[in-house]
Amino acid sequence: MVTFSDFVEQIKQLPIVPFIGRWVKLRRQGHNFVGLCPFHQEKTPSFSVNEQKGFFYCFGCGASGSIVDFAMKHENLSFIQATQRLAEMHNIPVPNEQYTSTNPIQKKIFEVLEEATHFCQSLLSKPSGRPAMAYLEKRGLLAQTITQFRLGWLDNSSQSLLKHLTQSGYSQEIIHEAGLTTYSERTQTYYDRFRGRIMFPIISRQDKIIGFGGRLLEIENTASQNFGPKYLNSPETTVFHKGDVLYGEFLMAKTARIKKRLIVVEGYMDVIGLHQAGFNEAVAPLGTAINTQQIERLWHYVDEPIICFDGDHAGIRASQRLADLVIPILKPGKSIQIATMPSGYDPDLLVLTQGANALEHVLQKSQNLADFIWQQEITATKTDTPERWAGFKERILKKTSDIQHNDVKSAYYNLYQTKISKIQQQDNLSNSTFSTRKKHYSINSNNRTYGSYRAQEGEAIRKSTLNQGGSEYFRLLRVVGLLMMKPMLIAKYAEELSSIETMHLIGQMLRDLIDFLLENTNANSEQLHRFLLSKGHDNFVDEINKHRLMLLPLDADHQSDEFFEKQLHEALEMAHLTKSSEKK
Ligand code: UTP
Ligand code: MN
Repeated sequence: MVTFSDFVEQIKQLPIVPFIGRWVKLRRQGHNFVGLCPFHQEKTPSFSVNEQKGFFYCFGCGASGSIVDFAMKHENLSFIQATQRLAEMHNIPVPNEQYTSTNPIQKKIFEVLEEATHFCQSLLSKPSGRPAMAYLEKRGLLAQTITQFRLGWLDNSSQSLLKHLTQSGYSQEIIHEAGLTTYSERTQTYYDRFRGRIMFPIISRQDKIIGFGGRLLEIENTASQNFGPKYLNSPETTVFHKGDVLYGEFLMAKTARIKKRLIVVEGYMDVIGLHQAGFNEAVAPLGTAINTQQIERLWHYVDEPIICFDGDHAGIRASQRLADLVIPILKPGKSIQIATMPSGYDPDLLVLTQGANALEHVLQKSQNLADFIWQQEITATKTDTPERWAGFKERILKKTSDIQHNDVKSAYYNLYQTKISKIQQQDNLSNSTFSTRKKHYSINSNNRTYGSYRAQEGEAIRKSTLNQGGSEYFRLLRVVGLLMMKPMLIAKYAEELSSIETMHLIGQMLRDLIDFLLENTNANSEQLHRFLLSKGHDNFVDEINKHRLMLLPLDADHQSDEFFEKQLHEALEMAHLTKSSEKK
């Protein structure tokens, strides 16, 4: 009898060159074939295939392995699926039935899940599904979105799905194997697992329904009664492994490679809301924290998936945990980015209330992992005494020692060492002590670049407390930001703008900006932008872009001139307020 490992060996002997040749243009070079690597972007070929050894290797990104590895990596298949696929292509019989998608039990499970989805969809459009439909509408979902995600509804009766499925000819065993029922020992009866829930079919990478998430309707009303958790998922079945699936992955796959962007969100509703707003590259784990295996799979689509969790404490904690999880497995070129939602928003609510542009801004400002880790660590603790500063240094450098890949590890180590020396140098230059260093870091999230202004500022500013300096800085930043967006406002406000007194370095930028605009009354944002860069104000221009969400209302892009004038008026009032309070 052929064992499974004999079978795998047989598969690994299959001709590798024609198989890879289906996607990669290969040309012979000596003993090998070479071409452009399909796993990373390149212009000159560093991907090579050894026909005799049945092996591929990329000198650029390090991807390597057998024909099975190539199939897994390129087609996003599990090991079993990849061997199966290759076997089917070459008419090789698969030894153990359990592994095949033609396995009659698995086939039935897929069928019954499909039928269940159908039934739930039909219940949603019946009069009895009206409250569920109304809820989805209230959440801003369009009919076409509901259809696309095949959302459905299951009422509160204990066996309506079970009855429908048995009437359609499925056995109770299969229905149970598919994860749709629970079994009561007491009554020795099967009941519907999902009741009174909006049904979210979970679709595999191969576009098959493998399970469900069910959401209670209006938890506000039902939470007090014991209907179970807000979301209930299918149990682990032979086709559904929670830790292996990402909600939305099949739909995402088409877009992510083209857009070269992938967004990881926390929940079902986030995925759906984002798709509806045009972000088809969004996926979510299924209520479990994302695991390393999933991250490595996401790296097949893009180099740096963007993590975009909720803007609450739990969301930030989840990003930090994910950062810790990813550190050890970082590879050259492969990392994550972390986007920070405005507090109180999840991605779904942001696009719903503020539009796609607002989310786009958040995504554009994602932090790279190295910056994120640095910032989290430095804001978590004080560094205002020699011991605390030394403690911080030890912790941040220790983080880098978790990185397994040597090149990445030393790159991180060097980056953090450089940042540390820079801060120490600045302290020496400005003669500041540890107690003033505290101020570098305590100004919420702006600390990353704050240190560099500090060193250049005069004594006067250094003496004023940071809070005042910080808020004055932001008030001025807002004035400048508004002028950059609407240069024409200068005509009316030139005098008032010129009367702003500040010791802050950004004052120089404001004066340059006023001079330029008075001379070039018709200048547009872009010309102004170029002028500011030519004057060496790029630091502040970056700061304005970075803090856009904080400085300007989310929907500023679509607002009228009057709106901006009102904003500037307010900003000027605040800028003057700072000045007069300082004179006191
Ligand atoms: P959320 O509570 O943020 O859900 O949980 P959501 O998708 O944004 O849904 P709405 O907006 O409240 O309707 C995030 C994810 O955590 C899992 C689900 O996968 C959910 O999408 N979860 C949440 C559970 O598995 N069980 C729960 O009881 C709650
Ligand atoms: Mn939500």
